[in-house]
Amino acid sequence: MRIFHTAAELRAALAGETGTALVPTMGNLHAGHVSLVELAKQHGSPVVASIFVNPLQFGAGEDFEHYPRTLAADCDKLAAAGCDIVFAPDATEVYPVPQTFTVQVADSLANDLCGAFRPGHFNGVATVVLKLFNLVQPRVAAFGKKDFQQLLVIREMVRQFNLPIGILAGDTQREADGLAMSSRNGYLSPSERARAPALQRELAAIAAAVRAGDREYEALCGAAARHLEMAGWDVDYIALRDAASLRPVDAATRRAVALGAARLGKTRLIDNLEIALGNPL
Ligand code: PAF
Repeated sequence: MRIFHTAAELRAALAGETGTALVPTMGNLHAGHVSLVELAKQHGSPVVASIFVNPLQFGAGEDFEHYPRTLAADCDKLAAAGCDIVFAPDATEVYPVPQTFTVQVADSLANDLCGAFRPGHFNGVATVVLKLFNLVQPRVAAFGKKDFQQLLVIREMVRQFNLPIGILAGDTQREADGLAMSSRNGYLSPSERARAPALQRELAAIAAAVRAGDREYEALCGAAARHLEMAGWDVDYIALRDAASLRPVDAATRRAVALGAARLGKTRLIDNLEIALGNPL
């Protein structure tokens, strides 16, 4: 596995490649990232994993400064997973001049759900991903479903800008107790870690109720949020949406998704569960 820190080295290594698969990451890798590398390997070669903690997608007071930088351990995991190239640029390599041209995600997607609590976040994500796409010029790129809204933002960007890139969606990887794997789980204290699977359990309860025919979505989501608040969480949102559009579920919805974001202490966790609906709701 080769490791590059500059765009020039990366470009030289990828010259002539037409089947590259990209796995964009911010590092501090876990089994979820490894599964994305494995997915990417099935669809392209060489596999490039980028490791870059993107300042544009963090708001004031968020964890940009403290986000774990673990390059050596990340490279060990990527090498074991069969990754071919790691691209680990620093901020001046990605943003050699102030990034005054940015991707503006439609308000309906950018300011909803997580975007309502993280202003500018999805514009920052879309901008860096577009830059990575231009630097790597992949044929396919893999993103995790845990960041469900991010996945839809990227898909829509690719569609609207006619980017010739296939977007692969990797399933959320979970710990044995159901907690979705996340680089931020490491922030949890032992007692918070023990309580953290409650978010997934509440989403699973919504999914079970919907599958059983309950159509009182607001009541279901409200009850889940209350349970979490009573258990000491600070809930940003619990919502049931159409999985294809993230708009409210309506009669045309075939696949729904229950999504939640909530804080335990200082750690913000997100999760979601898709719900296949045989019949229109
Ligand atoms: O999902 C992430 O880790 C980041 O948002 C991404 C896609 C690498 C962009 O910085």
